[in-house]
Amino acid sequence: MRDVREHEAVMVSEVINNLIVDPNGNYLDCTFGLGGHTKAILENLSSIGTLLAIDRDPLSMQEASKILKKDSRFDFKTSSFSSIGEIEQVNKLNGIIADLGISSYQLDEKERGFSFNGDFSLDMRMDQTKGPTAEEWINTASKEEIENVFWELGEARNSRIISKKIIEQRKLKAITSTKELANLIISCTHRRTKRHPATNIFRAIRMHINEEVQELKNLLIKSERVLKIGGRIVIISFHSIEDRIVKRFFQGKDRKDEVSLKLVSKKPIRPSLDEVKRNPRSRSAILRVAEKVC
Ligand SMILES: C[S@@+](CC[C@H](N)C(=O)[O-])C[C@H]1O[C@@H](n2cnc3c(N)ncnc32)[C@H](O)[C@@H]1O
Repeated sequence: MRDVREHEAVMVSEVINNLIVDPNGNYLDCTFGLGGHTKAILENLSSIGTLLAIDRDPLSMQEASKILKKDSRFDFKTSSFSSIGEIEQVNKLNGIIADLGISSYQLDEKERGFSFNGDFSLDMRMDQTKGPTAEEWINTASKEEIENVFWELGEARNSRIISKKIIEQRKLKAITSTKELANLIISCTHRRTKRHPATNIFRAIRMHINEEVQELKNLLIKSERVLKIGGRIVIISFHSIEDRIVKRFFQGKDRKDEVSLKLVSKKPIRPSLDEVKRNPRSRSAILRVAEKVC
């Protein structure tokens, strides 16, 4: 493992301006990562404000423990954000932030298998203590399931061709490495694009293995219970699938019950040009804010 862990938090001032409605309040950072947003939130809270951070990746605890040692307003739990209903009390929070996806340091830890650059085992679990790895899934799932994941989560036009090739390949030999999978995807891609052809497929597998869509839906539903009236939820998504779920939830679409969260502004907030120049990873960030109104 590398000693230097890096992840530049995105849209920090936009998060603070939209999240902190009361500096004396109680806040939840659902995606601690390396603590970029957590540190900024703590800087903007008063001496009686509190912040609980969670992350499903047990490695986040190492960074969180440095803050735990010096700031009594802060607490940390290794957990999935879909379980905030069990962690937090009803009507307690003034604000919730979730910065979705994985951090640069998780992507850079090549042995975790999130990246198609290099030749490493296909793991892709955010919490390596639970659930099947990407290798187990890709070598056992049905052709239909693989095709659906690539189509729905990867929005890949060639999902049928790639899934067929995977089934053929694994009859000869199990697919075990990021390089094997990336090469297989390249061999099925004829259109030239700026992005690596494996980008969307790797993201789709990661989202499936970590049940990211269900996690996000659960977070949205549970956030309504744990927020106080006037409390806010800030979500940063990095692609249209997640953003569509967030937007439709805040608009009350796909729901029969009354919605207590209302969008603060119809338009999403995007990073400034300066930020995108400084931190190109921020270019696809989409921030939405909703407030609990009843
Ligand atoms: C984009 S990073 C967050 C970076 C963080 N805001 C920072 O400034 O360092 C996303 C983090 O969320 C975590 N994560 C993703 N899905 C999660 C979930 N369902 N529950 C808890 N943590 C999750 C990942 O492990 C990762 O550390």
